[in-house]
Amino acid sequence: TESGYACWLDYRLIPNEPLRSAYRKRCSQLVMIGDSPLLQAARRELNLALGVMLGEAPVEAEEDAGAELSLPVLVVGTIGSSQLLNPLASLYHFDELGEEGYVIHGSGSDDNRIYLSADADKGVLYAVFHFIRLLQTGASIEQLAIRELPSNGLRMINHWDNMDGSIERGYAGRSIFFHEGRFIEDQERVRDYARLLASGGINALTINNVNVHSQESKLITDEFLPDVAKTAAIFREYGIRLYLSVNYASPMELGGLSTADPLAPEVAEWWHGAAKNIYRYIPDFGGFVVKADSEFRPGPFTYGRNHADGANMLADALAPFGGEVIWRCFVYNCLQNWRDRITDRARAAYDHFMPLDGTFRDNVMLQIKNGPMDFQVREPVSPLFGGLKETNQLLELQITQEYTGQQKHLCFLVPQWKEVFDFDTHAQGEGSTVAEVASGRLFGRARGGVAAVANIGDDASWSGHILAQANWYGYARLAWNPKLSAEQIAREWIAMTFGLDSAVERVLLGMLLSSYRIYEDYTAPLGVGWMVNPNHHYGPNVDGYEYSKWGTYHYADCHGMGVDRTVRSGTGYAGQYHSPVAERYESTALCPDELLLFFQHVPYTHRLKSGKTVIQHIYDTHFEGAERAAQLAEQWKSLASLVDSARFGQVLDRLAHQAEHAEEWRDCINTYFYRKSGIADERGRLIY
Ligand code: GCU
Repeated sequence: TESGYACWLDYRLIPNEPLRSAYRKRCSQLVMIGDSPLLQAARRELNLALGVMLGEAPVEAEEDAGAELSLPVLVVGTIGSSQLLNPLASLYHFDELGEEGYVIHGSGSDDNRIYLSADADKGVLYAVFHFIRLLQTGASIEQLAIRELPSNGLRMINHWDNMDGSIERGYAGRSIFFHEGRFIEDQERVRDYARLLASGGINALTINNVNVHSQESKLITDEFLPDVAKTAAIFREYGIRLYLSVNYASPMELGGLSTADPLAPEVAEWWHGAAKNIYRYIPDFGGFVVKADSEFRPGPFTYGRNHADGANMLADALAPFGGEVIWRCFVYNCLQNWRDRITDRARAAYDHFMPLDGTFRDNVMLQIKNGPMDFQVREPVSPLFGGLKETNQLLELQITQEYTGQQKHLCFLVPQWKEVFDFDTHAQGEGSTVAEVASGRLFGRARGGVAAVANIGDDASWSGHILAQANWYGYARLAWNPKLSAEQIAREWIAMTFGLDSAVERVLLGMLLSSYRIYEDYTAPLGVGWMVNPNHHYGPNVDGYEYSKWGTYHYADCHGMGVDRTVRSGTGYAGQYHSPVAERYESTALCPDELLLFFQHVPYTHRLKSGKTVIQHIYDTHFEGAERAAQLAEQWKSLASLVDSARFGQVLDRLAHQAEHAEEWRDCINTYFYRKSGIADERGRLIY
């Protein structure tokens, strides 16, 4: 508890006696049918959770215990596995639940039973975690009629872990998988990790960085496959399929071939052999994640081939074994000349991949970052969503807070992700949201879903900042159901992590839900992005990327700032959207304030819809943002007597740093734009 290690599976005796006995009454006996590894995991979790929360584990009864079963009992198992579950069959369509859907049913009156059931074992595991959540959040279990199906088929976590134990963009310690070029032998922590992921419904993961260096390239060889298989076995018990990031140039680096040309028969053959070997070790291996022709990674461009050639060749190698290829669309020119005002990094993914729509195999998914740039605090949604119609897609989010405070700042990202899921692409008229596109539903695709870059490491609390666990939890919940509100997710997480105290709930809820806006306010303004220190990306540096090769500019001069991405006078990026979105971004008048500088270059005196000028908006948001960041620490302090001292102190230290660092941001940004524009703050506050 004190270290935060248990995260939201922090089972504690329910302090409220009436509530605890009400629960205990309904859960005094357990009949668990079946003992597959998934069901064993479910049983362990249920016994652990109930034992701790209710003060005693339920009595496990046999299915045919007869008269004793007239007492209240929890019945857990797949439909059809026991007559005890028969009453459910007429109430729910189990054949519609698939592998992962489930039912939680119980009506206090008739038979005193609560059923946790599904069509498949994995669904039962999810039902168990859901039931535990009901108890953790203090929900009534008297009348239950819950039927859940995941909105997304693939709900994936990507690790950017390297085998030396470092984590690219990791802010929470070292890898939990690797150390000094090898797998960590003690996998207890990996098992706890699998539990946490499964509790939120995550069903897939990669364990190694998308930048696959030489040691990691060997993960698909006999040298490491036995270790990969051991890790895969742990995740399998929790319904999670393991994938690997692979090096596109593997046939050369591992196989000694002279080419990695996707159309060369020897290359295809090499990959086929590699795939076959992997499946000997891991029969349910998920497949490959590939970062190709991106930021110096090898890819098909070297051979004059395109991304479909590359992805399809790998897809054909995996298809006979049921594997899939997840091909990333983060492809752009990272050696741009800053003097070049025509090339636009924001355009790149669309320009590369749109012409290939419809040419990818059925077992390929394109993994697309939420925005066209790179996980900035504010970006428009990638126009590939809604653009691609005949290609499977995966939405890629970033849980690790590379550009959102690196787990030193509190920044609850669920509100940002909600905006992404809810964004209407208008691809098929109104209601063509990213949630509908990514899941595959809008265009009737067989595959789809969401992936996100992990924010965890071997830090005692997993995530560096204990409150950053809420992003990890929130991602999993949204991946399952993007319709959940940020508030509901935050409430669940708070209750599960800190208990049911109403003051804790009120204060933490306010902190979490305001934090994204606060962070946005004191960092780069109005969607323009960047303004961070190069390489590590932490802290303010307005011109840090201005004269660089990375394609990330704000173009501030003495008159104004922003990137003209309009069709009429700019890079034309705004034209990559469907109508009426394209028109909205094209127009200075219609463009939403928060994205104005992403799409338009305007004078500092331009008036926003809010009524303020751009320059006054910058001053106001930076003064207020820093002030509100300081208030976060004050709000947390009010919980001193309600949160255990270790977790309290850990969070307080970070909030204190955030408050100070927000002032640094405020002063750097305000001073920079005051000096550039020569326009004073209307309210005469101190600018340096
Ligand atoms: C960002 C990040 C890199 C990462 C890349 C990617 O640019 O800074 O560390 O490799 O995204 O998503 O591939």
